[in-house]
Amino acid sequence: MTTMSPSIRKAARLLAVVAATLLLASCANDAELTTLGQDNLAGPEARQIDSFLTWVLWIAYAVFAGVLFVTIYAWKNFGISGDDYEEDDWPEQIHGNDTLEYAWTAAPALLLLGIGLYTLTVHNSLNSEDSNPVNVTVAGESIAWEPQVVVVGQQWWWEYQYHFGDVDVDQERVQTLPTPDISTATQMVIPIGQEIELEITSRDVIHSHWIPSLNGKRDAVPGRQSAPWKIEADEPGVYFGQCTEFCGLSHSRMRMQVIALEPADFQEWINSQMEGVPLDAESAAYVDALVAGDTPAPENSTQRAISTFRGKCASCHLMEGVAEDLWSEEAVARQLVSGAAPNLTHFSSRTTFGGGIRNVWDPETKEFNKNDVAQWLRDPDSIKANYTDPVSDDDMRMRGMPNLELSTQEVDDLVALLELTGPKPSDFIISETGVETPGSEENAQGE
Ligand code: CUA
Repeated sequence: MTTMSPSIRKAARLLAVVAATLLLASCANDAELTTLGQDNLAGPEARQIDSFLTWVLWIAYAVFAGVLFVTIYAWKNFGISGDDYEEDDWPEQIHGNDTLEYAWTAAPALLLLGIGLYTLTVHNSLNSEDSNPVNVTVAGESIAWEPQVVVVGQQWWWEYQYHFGDVDVDQERVQTLPTPDISTATQMVIPIGQEIELEITSRDVIHSHWIPSLNGKRDAVPGRQSAPWKIEADEPGVYFGQCTEFCGLSHSRMRMQVIALEPADFQEWINSQMEGVPLDAESAAYVDALVAGDTPAPENSTQRAISTFRGKCASCHLMEGVAEDLWSEEAVARQLVSGAAPNLTHFSSRTTFGGGIRNVWDPETKEFNKNDVAQWLRDPDSIKANYTDPVSDDDMRMRGMPNLELSTQEVDDLVALLELTGPKPSDFIISETGVETPGSEENAQGE
């Protein structure tokens, strides 16, 4: 074996460090969550941040090159090597050069001032409130909607609320906001070519909302509504995101997607979200009887599911047309730390569930993903670590989906009811939003 010279060994070591860093950084051009590369930027806010970053980087490169040049120049021209040198070998020593001192004080100060002003300008623009109203039709009425979406982080999923009425969402805490016209979980739907203001907040701990190809990250802080934080998408498509503030057990499984639609498709989405669950006439009559206080025996799978939902799910979940009469603020406060569980009225109009980690629709076959939905109902912890123990003996509040010990029949009935909720998203959205399903074995271990 040949021995390496010290300098080669040093170079090899440096190379190994660089290679390991690149590997750990997992640089990939087609990654879902990357801000690198123009191709991944899908809206004006993201491009603004990117060009700001590029400018600052070039300035940093120039400063680095300048410092390196001066260092090498000084070393080559004035460096003395060896131990025994005389004072005579020293180059001429200079004291007090005013021009130089002014220059190296003023140059960095100006540079930093410039970067600071640029930062403020970009930040201000990302926060500005002057978005244009979007014309939409809600329940047959044409309105000019201030495009605002209330984003509520909670352990461990994101809720998106749409208020079309006369609600000043940025003046209200999430707890005092009225029931939204539309509430979705894990997926935010927006029209393309419009600046949408996000009002970001949290129901429990600090989370952080980040859709890298549309905008930077914004903390979701309990008790506080963020200043409007904008996003806009140029093209119809799907943009992935992930909670980026460590928020407990299933932080890594708190994902989300933005689905950007053509204005006409967005209007269609609003129309569908304003409807209740499309029950057949007999099942609707069955619900009416239950609401009236009667206890008719369920006659089929849908009716059995309605009965189970009202008995076991409705204390946390809202499903319009099935159990909204059971929904009350008190019930919510009694059951949950977070104060909310996803509104399930349009469960199967979404394409991911469980915090954006499982597919509602199979991206390959475009069939309803009965297996995963059933597994979630049967044993949620096998998919995602929840934290469903009561906080204390006299406090039954929980967070996350508990195991309700449902029977096989109950699970099958509920899966069928959830599939019914719809409407089914387009094949394009189903395949674009598809998430990888890790092996359930490994998944049950937690991370
Ligand atoms: Cu929510 Cu991390």
